[in-house]
Amino acid sequence: MFTPQDTPTSTPHVQRLPAARRQATMAELVAQGLERAAKSLPPMLFYDARGSELFEQICRLEAYYVTRTERALLAEHAYALTRRLEPAVTVAELGSGSSEKTDLVLEALLGTREHLRYVPVDISAAALEAAAERLVARFPRLEVRGLCAEYQDGVQHLARLDADQHLVLFLGSNIGNFEADEAAAFLNRLARAMRPQDRLLLGVDMVKDRAILERAYDDPEGVTAAFNLNMLAHLNHALGANFDLAAFRHEAFFNARASRVEMHLVSTKAQDVHVAALGRSFHFEEGESIHTENSHKYTPEALEGLIAAGGWRTLERVTDDAGAFSLCLLAPRPEVLA
Ligand code: TRP
Repeated sequence: MFTPQDTPTSTPHVQRLPAARRQATMAELVAQGLERAAKSLPPMLFYDARGSELFEQICRLEAYYVTRTERALLAEHAYALTRRLEPAVTVAELGSGSSEKTDLVLEALLGTREHLRYVPVDISAAALEAAAERLVARFPRLEVRGLCAEYQDGVQHLARLDADQHLVLFLGSNIGNFEADEAAAFLNRLARAMRPQDRLLLGVDMVKDRAILERAYDDPEGVTAAFNLNMLAHLNHALGANFDLAAFRHEAFFNARASRVEMHLVSTKAQDVHVAALGRSFHFEEGESIHTENSHKYTPEALEGLIAAGGWRTLERVTDDAGAFSLCLLAPRPEVLA
């Protein structure tokens, strides 16, 4: 074992990526989403500083079983899951947020390593910077190289990193936030950016009782409602929109056919909302909704199907006694690497 005073504390480092491809501006995303017959807005727009903060509160809610179930699995299995990794492994994480659960993985790896590099990737610069500061203070032998970027650009960045082995973390059932076919396509792009020795640790929420699911996304304290509505506040600030937050309400329900919890913002009256950055207004009927997020829930069979379709194979899968959540350690399939 190494003791914390062995090596000096490194300074955290957070970089903004020059986008690998032209990214649609926030105004364009909003125009595209609100022009549709069935209005929608991309979940990326949740995460301004306030949004990241509210999300952290969600993760601590009694109703939101996801975070604590995954944390308990990591606490129990982090050593076993990371045991066979190479000494010079680099840990990367997509959608790292506060990196709070990641401590369990980093701690397990640092127990047998003198130095470890961690590359958190998140869309929120504020969340990344706070996490980087906290981590280097807690783990003096950890080098943190944060990257403020979307998933897709994060993957391209990982492919270019000089690392003997990658352990990519994709936790919190973030994979469930993709459309079903996009989830497999995304896992494929990730697999193709990897080498045979690289690994993915995927956290996935499983199908369960409707009441438990709906409560997790519509908690009695109203934190999830505030998080959903904050997207409109974010657009008001960033694009000079005039959404009246009191004229929209949060709605979350389990769509069993699509096996997903859907999050919506429902207009409580007929109204027009002006977006200054676009120089135009959008009309809402009473009861019309903006679809803001999906959270797909998997059966064990559907999960194996996704993993295989995504170009990966399962080395280990661990789950809690109730089968509420799964952690899967995956390796890229040789045929996708060619
Ligand atoms: N990855 C998380 C999940 O699917 C994201 C999330 C949790 C979320 N609660 C939310 C997204 C509420 C939107 C609204 O569980």
